[in-house]
Amino acid sequence: MTAAKQEHWDEVYRTKAADSVSWYQPTPAPSLRALDELHLPVTAALIDVGGGASSLVDRLLERGWSDLTVLDIAAPALDVAKARLHGDAARVAWLVADVTEWRPGRWYDIWHDRAVFHFLTEPEQRIAYRRALETGTAPGSVLIIATFAPDGPERCSGLAVQRYDAAALASEFSSAFALESEWREEHRTPAGGRQSFQWCVFRRR
Ligand SMILES: C[S@@+](CC[C@H](N)C(=O)[O-])C[C@H]1O[C@@H](n2cnc3c(N)ncnc32)[C@H](O)[C@@H]1O
Repeated sequence: MTAAKQEHWDEVYRTKAADSVSWYQPTPAPSLRALDELHLPVTAALIDVGGGASSLVDRLLERGWSDLTVLDIAAPALDVAKARLHGDAARVAWLVADVTEWRPGRWYDIWHDRAVFHFLTEPEQRIAYRRALETGTAPGSVLIIATFAPDGPERCSGLAVQRYDAAALASEFSSAFALESEWREEHRTPAGGRQSFQWCVFRRR
């Protein structure tokens, strides 16, 4: 299963320009706004799960963040980000892993996931994701998550997705996380389309 998923995502990043994929955003504005509102120190440990080639890590390095990790199933995605960052890539921990099979070896203060959890359409995949999430966070840790909203696309990158509103996401994570804030975003794709996203910020109890 992982091999097929990995092959799919490797191929996406090998064959498409990073700024042409539907999820590309020139600036990760909603994530930065969510982080600003949390008033966290730049020493906080953040992991971008399924971070792909996102520039979130670039913007956080510029702001002085010092404990950053990007995890993705696709090594070519991380290669794009590393090449863009040149020498600064060494200031980030890069992990190639399927989050549903990954066992974190430490705690993170912030677990950020934009458009990854919604690919987990099987209950056992979501259970495995939560196992990793709960191993990699501690009481007080923050989960920032964005999925397609109920009126968002039914598929992304050729794969089926599960769409969520805030209540549905809250029930996915209610065993360990309390909802702190939620909002919707209309993402504009590079091709000019619009995609409805649901964002939630949770705090680990
Ligand atoms: C829609 S893209 C979003 C990328 C990034 N979060 C962003 O906002 O630009 C989904 C990302 O999740 C990664 N991914 C998909 N399934 C994964 C899994 N099971 N474990 C880790 N990464 C995964 C893909 O390789 C891809 O980079």
